[in-house]
Amino acid sequence: MPHLLILDDDDLIRDTLSEVARDSGFSVGEAASVSEALEQLTLRPPQLLLADIRVKGGDGLEVCRNASALGSEVVVMTGYSSVDYAVEAMRLGVRDFLRKPICMDRLQSILDRIASTAEHIPAEGFRGRMVGESAGIQEVYRSIARVGPTNTTVMLIGESGTGKELAAEAIHKASKRADKPYIAVNCGAISPNLMESELFGHERGSFTGADRQHKGYFEQADGGTLFLDEVTEMPLELQVKLLRVLESHEFMRVGSHKIQKCDVRVVAATNRNPEQAVRDGRLREDLYYRLAVFPLELPPLRARESDPQLLADRFLADLNEMHGTQRVFSPEVYEQLLTHNWPGNVRELRNYVQRAYVMADGDTLNAPVKRRMQIGKKPASGDCIDVPVDTTLADAERKLILATLERCAGVKKQAATLLGVSPKTLYNRLMAYAAEGYVVMPDPEPEKV
Ligand SMILES: Nc1ncnc2c1ncn2[C@@H]1O[C@H](COP(=O)(O)OP(=O)(O)OP(=O)(O)O)[C@@H](O)[C@H]1O
Ligand SMILES: [Mg+2]
Repeated sequence: MPHLLILDDDDLIRDTLSEVARDSGFSVGEAASVSEALEQLTLRPPQLLLADIRVKGGDGLEVCRNASALGSEVVVMTGYSSVDYAVEAMRLGVRDFLRKPICMDRLQSILDRIASTAEHIPAEGFRGRMVGESAGIQEVYRSIARVGPTNTTVMLIGESGTGKELAAEAIHKASKRADKPYIAVNCGAISPNLMESELFGHERGSFTGADRQHKGYFEQADGGTLFLDEVTEMPLELQVKLLRVLESHEFMRVGSHKIQKCDVRVVAATNRNPEQAVRDGRLREDLYYRLAVFPLELPPLRARESDPQLLADRFLADLNEMHGTQRVFSPEVYEQLLTHNWPGNVRELRNYVQRAYVMADGDTLNAPVKRRMQIGKKPASGDCIDVPVDTTLADAERKLILATLERCAGVKKQAATLLGVSPKTLYNRLMAYAAEGYVVMPDPEPEKV
């Protein structure tokens, strides 16, 4: 638990600040004078010192200097704006100023930042349901443990199938909101026309078909966490509204002017490069900065040392338990697990294990589909598309997607795995291409039985 020391000779201010800090997961020490503060500093050096520098019995700057030397972050609260004091304070390592009367939002963001970097976090981090021991994934566990207990907005970034959804769930479990609702929403899977009412709810009669009042995801997640997956797929005008909720914690249902308050922690995710999404005009820059207070990158599976073997063992153990079997992998499979580069990441690996399990003749599982295992190494000739250097990224992406779909004979699930995106993401792209007039190969007829 991070520790805060408050130095102020005003009882009411100390009480108020203590309460806010305790709510944010801090233990709190209070001092009404310089001597008391100096004594407390030596007893327990805090992660954060909030100090008024004009207090009874001496100069608050002395406390700032000592705290700074002990490695505490120091924030000065002041009702005066004296340039001399400010300069001297900065010289002593004061990091920030809070003018009185104190803006609670600013205080909260300072507390959140400190809590997210405090050293109280367990060295092994927090892994939730995630499996893996590689250096990259352990760093993820540590980040989750750091940021989980705060109210900070988190932006999960990583290729499709790297476990962003599991990480979001772990952040919720590591937070004080763990016993409150956790709602996961895939922005790429909701029709843009319905998204506003899905997120913020609607009043009865607000549009055709709205025959009763509906609570949106923000209301459903009140007190808990809302996971906004594929946030770059959200229409730009809704991104403005989302930004407003994140800043004010207020929103209005569709068809109503009544302001609703909400206490929701947002975790967002994207499998695109968010900065590129900003440049492409898919993600508003102001929203990106608001969401990415704490960016957390999930490494691709190919960069996770021997994790593919650990994950495969876990997936197989789950299947064995479910079906009461005792199947094992052949040594050949173990080797392939490490040499394949897993463009579809953990999702692809999970599917691979499932296929191997289903196709096994006896209790030893062999590599299920050899051809799939070669993907990511050398493409067969004829499996290539030509992309001239002056092609836009959007055009290149479309060519690749349509060519892959064709190669998979229109089977979208297979094409999505090859492309390393979720079927929903692929489906959304195809809908957009069809709307723009491109010919999209339809799904093949289901086989008659
Ligand atoms: N570290 C992990 N341990 C165990 N299972 C995992 C791990 N990472 C991912 N998975 C599993 O792999 C599958 C894909 O993970 P997830 O849905 O979280 O990926 P994602 O990054 O959200 O992908 P997308 O961008 O396509 O939505 C899920 O079945 C998930 O349970
Ligand atoms: Mg996901």
